[in-house]
Amino acid sequence: MVGISVEEIQKSKKVFNLERAIYSKGAQASFFVYRVLNKLDRVTKNSISAFVRPKKWTYRCWIRYKIKGSTDDQIIAMVGDRCHKLLQMALGQRIEENAYFVSTLLREAESRKIKSRVVNWGKKLHEDYKAGKVYQPTELSIAESEEVDHAGLEAFYELTKKRQSIRRFLPKDVPSEVVGKILACALESPSSCNRQSWRFLVIRDPIKKEYLAKIRNVQFLANTPVIICVLVNSEVYSNNGQGDKRITPIMDGSAAMTHLVLASAAAGLGSCWTNFAASISPENMQNFKKYFNLPESMVAVSLVALGFYDKKFPKPFRDNIDSHVFGEL
Ligand SMILES: Cc1cc2nc3c(=O)[nH]c(=O)nc-3n(C[C@H](O)[C@H](O)[C@H](O)COP(=O)(O)O)c2cc1C
Repeated sequence: MVGISVEEIQKSKKVFNLERAIYSKGAQASFFVYRVLNKLDRVTKNSISAFVRPKKWTYRCWIRYKIKGSTDDQIIAMVGDRCHKLLQMALGQRIEENAYFVSTLLREAESRKIKSRVVNWGKKLHEDYKAGKVYQPTELSIAESEEVDHAGLEAFYELTKKRQSIRRFLPKDVPSEVVGKILACALESPSSCNRQSWRFLVIRDPIKKEYLAKIRNVQFLANTPVIICVLVNSEVYSNNGQGDKRITPIMDGSAAMTHLVLASAAAGLGSCWTNFAASISPENMQNFKKYFNLPESMVAVSLVALGFYDKKFPKPFRDNIDSHVFGEL
């Protein structure tokens, strides 16, 4: 294929010769080098690898070579793996090279007409990456930190203590911009692979609240100024290892729920996490989706009852931390 043999490389063991060979023979040679690497002894391999690795184009040739020789299933698995790496750049992955890997995989999947949910997800993620929507601008990244922010931790602890479930509210509206800000806090919550699968249904209409109170069989909902229903788009999950459809939506939704109730407490509002998915019959769930014109793929996880309150309610008891911890602090 190229004018350089395994024997030649083994004989020379000189990176200089190899460098000349690669540059004179171009990309084809680098495929070849990677192929012969497996056949070489360790010393030669290391010296060649040390030379080859820093070369971006050689690495890219290797990517193309590896992809061409992979089965459809291996391509799908690699899309999943590489997309996760793209999301986890904080682990020190080389973002640009990884994105190149993803785009090459997607091109190959396209040319082979591979149909897979993982590939679809990869396409969307890669488009977002190109549009600058995978990472926030650097100035928005969290600051480097090597010391504990005791004041910050204490302030957050105070906020968690301030939150408690409120089930009786004043008949007073919560301004839209406040609800918007509380929802913005929910968007900052973690979600599996950053799929941001949550959707929020905001209910203020008295007739709709009455309907919800009836099907959920919780009367205080009818007298709650604002109800936020946390929904999760289950379409983005499948039943393979990339996010189990039965469990992951509930986890994504619960993460958002936690942000919502804490944000409400920070705003001085009362809130109550009110079960939905686990407390409603399948028939009522179907009726609920029809009533609010929601797509079938939505999982209605839980409700947040939200509003002003005037009464101090006794705070439910909490155990001591020791009785909840296994292992050492
Ligand atoms: C998953 C979950 C489901 C809940 N469902 C309901 C509910 O359906 N109705 C309700 O009044 N409170 C509900 N709560 C609120 C709990 O009853 C409440 O958090 C608990 O009693 C502790 O009280 P606190 O929130 O005031 O600290 C729920 C809380 C969680 C986390």
